[in-house]
Order: sequence, then C-alpha cells, then structure tokens
Amino acid sequence: MQAESRNWQKKGFSVGLVPTMGFLHEGHLALIKKAAKSCDRMIVSIFVNSLQFGPSEDFERYPRDMKRDRALCLKAGVDALFVPSAKEMYPPDFQTYVEVEKLSQELEGAARPGHFRGVATVVAKLFNTCLPNITYFGQKDYQQAVVIKRMVAELNFPVKIVVCPTVRERSGLAASSRNSYLGESERRKAAVLHRALQLGAEKWKVSVPVEEVIRIVKDYIRNHSSFEVDYVLASDPKTLLPVLEPGRPAVLSLAARLGKVRLIDNILVNARKKA
Ligand code: PAJ
Repeated sequence: MQAESRNWQKKGFSVGLVPTMGFLHEGHLALIKKAAKSCDRMIVSIFVNSLQFGPSEDFERYPRDMKRDRALCLKAGVDALFVPSAKEMYPPDFQTYVEVEKLSQELEGAARPGHFRGVATVVAKLFNTCLPNITYFGQKDYQQAVVIKRMVAELNFPVKIVVCPTVRERSGLAASSRNSYLGESERRKAAVLHRALQLGAEKWKVSVPVEEVIRIVKDYIRNHSSFEVDYVLASDPKTLLPVLEPGRPAVLSLAARLGKVRLIDNILVNARKKA
C-alpha cells in the first residue's frame, strides 16, 4: 500500500483516505464522494479494529459484508481498497499504542475506556501505511474527529483532516453500521435520538440553563421510546470539557441503548466550525 501511494505521489497525484470499519452506508459514501471531488487518487480502508472494542462490546458480531462493500467502492470510483488482516495490523506481541490523553477521557472515552487509544493507534497505522495527503472523517463521531485532529497536530502527521456533516436517514436517525442491529420498527423509533437533540439545541440557543437542557433531552427520549440513556452532555467543541454557561458554543451529544444496541449522536449549537 505504501509503495502504491508513494508511486501516486511521485506522479504528482493527491491521495485521499477514508478509514472505515466497513458495512458501508450513506455516511461512508458521503465521505467517499467528498474525497473523489478533491483527490486524484482515493483509498478506502476497511478494518474492524479489535483494539477499539471493549471486552463486552460487539466486536465479534459487528456487521461485515466485504462483497457488498467492494461493489460500492468500485461503483464510487475508489482506486484502492485497503483491507489488512488482523495479523498484519497487530502481530503477536504488538506493543506500541497512541494515546491522546485528555480528550480521550471525556464523553465516549468515559463510557468506553481504551476506545480512543484503539482508534488513535489504528488511525496512525492507517496513515503510515496509506500515506494520504487528505483524510475524511464524519461529524457523527465528533469526539473521534477531535481526537484524530489532535493526534495529527501533536505527532506532526503531514495529513489534512476534513470533517464531513452527519448523514441521516429520512427519519433523522444518523446513518450507522450499527443501525443494522435494529428491526424496522425499532429503527423508526431510534429517530427519537435526533429529535431530542434538536429540541435540546432549540433550548440551548435561547440560553436555557445547561442542566435543564440536559434534563429536557433525557426526558424526551424516555417519554418517547424505550431507549435507556447512557449520557447526554454539553461539551466545549474543542476541549470537550463540560460547558457550564448557557448559550455558549457547544456540542450536545448522547449515547443511548436499546437492548444490546448502543447508538451515539450529536449536534453542534452556536458553534462556527464543524469539529
Ligand atoms: P466507521 O464507524 O466505519 O466510520 C468510518 C467513518 O465514517 C468515520 O469517520 C465516521 O465518523 C464516518 N461516519 C459514520 N457514520 C456517518 C454518518 N452518518 N455521517 C457521516 N459520517 C459518518 O469510525 C470508524 O469506523 C472507526 O473508528 C475508524 C475511524 C475507521 C478507526 O477504526
């Protein structure tokens, strides 16, 4: 992969990378389309990264469909599909990890210890194997984009990060590989998460006190679905620390469970930049 990428660069082509865990959906395809617009050559990586899953999480049952993913990438004009094996990525006695310390402890990091260490490590490896000039991430995983931006800045990766808006189903539910765990009616009900965030954003914009906004979002979810709320938080878009003053720029984010299925979503309020 490195040789191919270097080869492209020697010819003066710009190389884009869209890192994914596969089971591609409209969210991934939006990143791929964006890459196609600005890059001469485009790599999509597909690797279900064991390192970012906790011991009781869904690594084993995470949805996989290589045949379909391959066809979608071909259709989208992807130049290289990078699909490393687990052994190639993490040979026995692998012992080098990347940790973006503080940012990784907030939000999802608090709920999923070690998750962002796994993400940062695999993304660093993907950057070093694919050698992209530009890479594409989704706002859907807001904290992930912030963590990766920080890693790139502090470890001097010569890579530009582009963060793309969250793609949603017609109902408002954020597209996600994990939506495939839901039945049709559950999937419709899951739209409540986005609606709750929208309601929270409306309240936030008129400077309703922080605790009240959070309570309103939680109550909306509880009253309109059987989702169990993991957390609803208002965080500073850059530091991800809790915002205490109403009406400040913030990312409202949440995680909620329906049975074994855990979904996340977020919305930016009063902020100028995406991530
Ligand atoms: P995955 O969940 O497959 O997502 C790959 C990329 O697609 C991420 O940048 C994610 O934010 C983006 N994405 C997912 N759903 C989206 C949506 N509805 N709208 C816009 N973008 C969306 O995120 C990962 O994989 C992994 O953590 C990875 C970065 C590949 C490292 O293993």
